[in-house]
Amino acid sequence: MDTIHITGNGPLSGQIPIAGAKNACLTLMPATLLSDEPLTLTNVPRLSDIATMTQLLTSLGAEVSALQDGQVLAMSSHNQNNLTADYDIVRKMRASILVLGPMLARHGQATVSLPGGCAIGARPVDLHLKALEAMGAELDLRDGYVHAKAPGGLKGGVVDFPFVSVGATENALMAATLAKGTTVINRAAREPEIVDLAQCLRKMGAQIEGEGTGTITIQGVDRLHGATHPVVTDRIELGTYMLAPAICGGEVELLGGRLDLVGAFSEKLDEAGIEVTETDKGLKVRRRSDHVKAVNVTTAPFPGFPTDLQAQMMALMCTADGVSVLEEKIFENRFMHAPELMRMGAQIDVSGGTATVTGVDRLKGAQVMATDLRASVSLILAGMAADGVTTVGRVYHLDRGYEHVVRKLEGVGAKIERIKSQ
Ligand code: EPZ
Repeated sequence: MDTIHITGNGPLSGQIPIAGAKNACLTLMPATLLSDEPLTLTNVPRLSDIATMTQLLTSLGAEVSALQDGQVLAMSSHNQNNLTADYDIVRKMRASILVLGPMLARHGQATVSLPGGCAIGARPVDLHLKALEAMGAELDLRDGYVHAKAPGGLKGGVVDFPFVSVGATENALMAATLAKGTTVINRAAREPEIVDLAQCLRKMGAQIEGEGTGTITIQGVDRLHGATHPVVTDRIELGTYMLAPAICGGEVELLGGRLDLVGAFSEKLDEAGIEVTETDKGLKVRRRSDHVKAVNVTTAPFPGFPTDLQAQMMALMCTADGVSVLEEKIFENRFMHAPELMRMGAQIDVSGGTATVTGVDRLKGAQVMATDLRASVSLILAGMAADGVTTVGRVYHLDRGYEHVVRKLEGVGAKIERIKSQ
C-alpha cells in the first residue's frame, strides 16, 4: 500500500483548483437509471468512488463512458438488463443503495444488497426503505438483500423523516419523480448536493419544488428525458484545502470555491482568526496572525458545520491557542483520527461523541495510519504543520474522495510526496 510522506514547513502560497463534488456525483450517476435517454455529467471528479459507482451501473447493464480524462461521464440505461445490485460491489461503497429508488421507480422492481456498515458507524438504511414504503413499495429483506416491488408503479405519498438523512432524501427524491401523484418529503436534507440533484432532475423533466429547504414537493411525471449537467463544486474538498493556509500560514486561493457552500464552516474559521475573502476566481484564505484561536464545533446537517470537515478542523485545533470542544452529532464513531493525531503530540480527550482538544505549540512528525476518508486528510494537514516527517499509511482511503491531493498541495508549497508500495 502506498504511503504519503509530509515534511512540515512554512507558509503556503498559490492556488488550488476545487473539483466537482464526490457526494453530488454519487447521487447524480444513479439518476441515469430513471430515464432511457442519455444523461451526461461534466465537472466529474476523478475518484475511486466514482469508479465504483461506474462499476455498479455497468453491472446493471447501463452504459457509462468516461470522456475527457474522466471529467465527463456519458451514461445511458437504455439497455439496462439487470435489476440486481450485487453484494460484491455494494459492500465497497454505501452510496450504492442510491440505485434502489431509481430502479424501483422506473421498472417497478429492484433487488439491492444491503450495504455493510463502515468505519465511522453502522449507517443503516431504514429511512431509505421507509421512504419507499410511503410511496407504496413492497419490501422483503432476505439473504442480505432488499427485494423491492411496486406493482403498478410507485404512488405519491408523504415521507416524514424522523431526522435528516442525506442519502434517504436522495433516494426518496429520485423515486418520487416517476411516482403517480404528489410526494412531500418532510425534514428533507438541505445539502447543496440535494439541490444539485434536484436541478439535474428538473432538467430531465421532473417537477420539483423546495429543494434546499426542509420540505420538498414532487409532482410525478410519466417519464424523464436525457440531460447534461455540471457537478456542483465539492464543498468538503474546498473546506479541507481552506484549512491548509489556516494550519501552515500564508495565503491560498481556492479556485471555484463558493462561500455559500461553506457558510457555517467559514464562520468558524473567522472565529478562529482565519480570514476568508471572496475573489472573482473563488475564495482566498489567510491567517490574520500567527495565532489561531481555539473554537468549539458541533456538527449538524447543512447549513450547520459539516461532519465531513470535523476531522480536518480537529487538526487545526491541535495547534490552536486554548481548548476546543468538538461534538460529533451525526456519526457514532468519527474520532478515529484522534489517536493518530495524539501520536503526533496532540492533546485530545475523547469521551463518547465529544473530543476536547488542548492546543500545543507544535506537533511532531510521526508514522500514522489513515482510518477513513476524512481522517486521512486531517493527518496530512497536521503533518504539514508538524516538525519533522509524517508518514501516512493506507492512503487508499484518500483516493476515494480527493483527486491529486499531492499535486494540489505541492502546488502551494507543501513538502509532500507519495511513495508507491513495492
Ligand atoms: C452522506 O452519507 C455522505 N455520503 C457522507 O459523506 C456524509 O458524512 C453524510 O451524508 C452526512 O452529511 C454521500 O453523500 C455519499 P446520512 P449518508 O444518511 O447519506 C443515520 C464522506 O466522507 N441513518 O445523512 O449515508 C446514519 O447512520 C461521507 O464523503 C440512519 O439511521 O448520511 C447517520 O448517523 C461520509 N438510517 C445519520 O443518519 C438511514 O436510513 C446521517 O446519515 C440513513 C441514515
